Amino acid sequence: MTKLNVTWAADRAAMAKLAANHVSAALLDGSVTSLALPTGDTPIGMYEELSQRCQRGEISFGDTTLFNLDEYVGMSPDNPRSYHAFMRRHLIDRIDAPEDQVNLLRGDASDADEECRAFDRAIAAAGGIDLAVLGLGANGHIAFNEPGVAWDLDTHVVALDERTRQAHRPNFPDEVSVPSTGVTMGINTLRSARKVLLLCAGESKREAMAALLSGREDPAWPVTSLLGHSDLVIVAEEALMPS
Ligand code: GLP
Repeated sequence: MTKLNVTWAADRAAMAKLAANHVSAALLDGSVTSLALPTGDTPIGMYEELSQRCQRGEISFGDTTLFNLDEYVGMSPDNPRSYHAFMRRHLIDRIDAPEDQVNLLRGDASDADEECRAFDRAIAAAGGIDLAVLGLGANGHIAFNEPGVAWDLDTHVVALDERTRQAHRPNFPDEVSVPSTGVTMGINTLRSARKVLLLCAGESKREAMAALLSGREDPAWPVTSLLGHSDLVIVAEEALMPS
């Protein structure tokens, strides 16, 4: 069974600091020049910390190529619900990353498959992902890699799981507006990252966390594809600690 490196955080504020410390240290020691970054409620505190540290001149994203993990298909970057807008609002517009080093998947690309291939080319041009920061879906997804997805894929178009659509429902005015398709970095891309930082918070993640802590790979729980990664750090809320 895989021995997991889990740091338990007392609360979201502690989690934000621990996660920001991990990313900051990797930027400062020069081991990370390409970053994959998540959306969701979980990483917001980490982004706040990182933005403030960057504004105080303690860290810099000047030599770092940034990628987001995923996006809703059909959503334009200027839609405030887009992941594109989320990334700009919470991090990119607040740090010193040069615009030509920012790579955000476009949900409104006329050819979604070509958008995925172009994204993979940009990742390859950056030398792959040095650090992938990930959140966790209640159904065990990482990025938009839903239960049952093949683990050998790079960036691809995906049908969103019904559980994912329900989790996202509060962000949309009605049921029909909730996107049913996404584009996402694939599990192959994520597992190829040199370092992975997984952030787990929220009561709805208990079952997914238990699947991960079981230490057994299970295609029904995509997060378990990270088991066996040589540099996986998990920061999780203490509330999710098994009793
Ligand atoms: C979305 C994203 C995931 C993210 C997940 C968790 O589904 N596609 O990348 O990890 O939400 O979100 P939260 O942090 O809000 O629980």
